[in-house]
Amino acid sequence: MKSIIDAMTGASGALYALRLLHKLAVANCSIQLTLSEPACVSLAAETGIKLNAHAPDASKLFEGSEVLSRVTIHNSRDIGSSIASGSNRHNGMVIVPCSMGTLGRIAHGTSDDLIARAADVCLKERRKLLLVTREMPLTLIHLKNMVQVTEAGAIVMHACPHFYHRPQTVEEVVDTVVDRILDHLEVDVETQRWKS
Ligand SMILES: Cc1cc2nc3c(=O)[nH]c(=O)nc-3n(C[C@H](O)[C@H](O)[C@H](O)COP(=O)(O)O)c2cc1C
Repeated sequence: MKSIIDAMTGASGALYALRLLHKLAVANCSIQLTLSEPACVSLAAETGIKLNAHAPDASKLFEGSEVLSRVTIHNSRDIGSSIASGSNRHNGMVIVPCSMGTLGRIAHGTSDDLIARAADVCLKERRKLLLVTREMPLTLIHLKNMVQVTEAGAIVMHACPHFYHRPQTVEEVVDTVVDRILDHLEVDVETQRWKS
């Protein structure tokens, strides 16, 4: 069973996060989930789902008790959590959506909350770290931070859907991003692939 660290931060794009969680659950992954406080603000604004960042109720994000048994919630303020340690083995970390604030903290190694620390650990342990960033337009500071994390080993997957499969619904648009994330996490996914 693959174990994936999945962090949500306060950027727009909660739909990407929810769809990714659903697909990770369907793929039988074990999910180590953590949300920043601003993630709960944007989640509520974009979906109506209201969570307490420090004691989130995972049943609001997943359907089925069987899935919930594979989800572990980590308080993003709990720097003593297992995912803060390099000794914790996993198959990769994804931050979706990733705010410019969190990007900046990772780029500068602040490790001042669990999300920045777990990401820093991925970099030092040479484990996979995917940052699904979202902001528009981008400042020179954002761009430099993207360069910095890329040089340190992270993969910046700026949330840019594609349209060449002519998606008909918002979910199909969202999946063009989510399925690329799953590819990078090496989680099998049935998806439309470009054929000439
Ligand atoms: C509804 C809403 C949408 C937001 N969208 C973005 C965004 O797309 N990108 C971004 O970098 N910040 C966005 N923000 C601002 C972040 O939430 C804010 O900078 C926050 O401090 C990020 O903290 P975090 O990285 O710990 O989650 C948004 C805030 C709100 C309330």
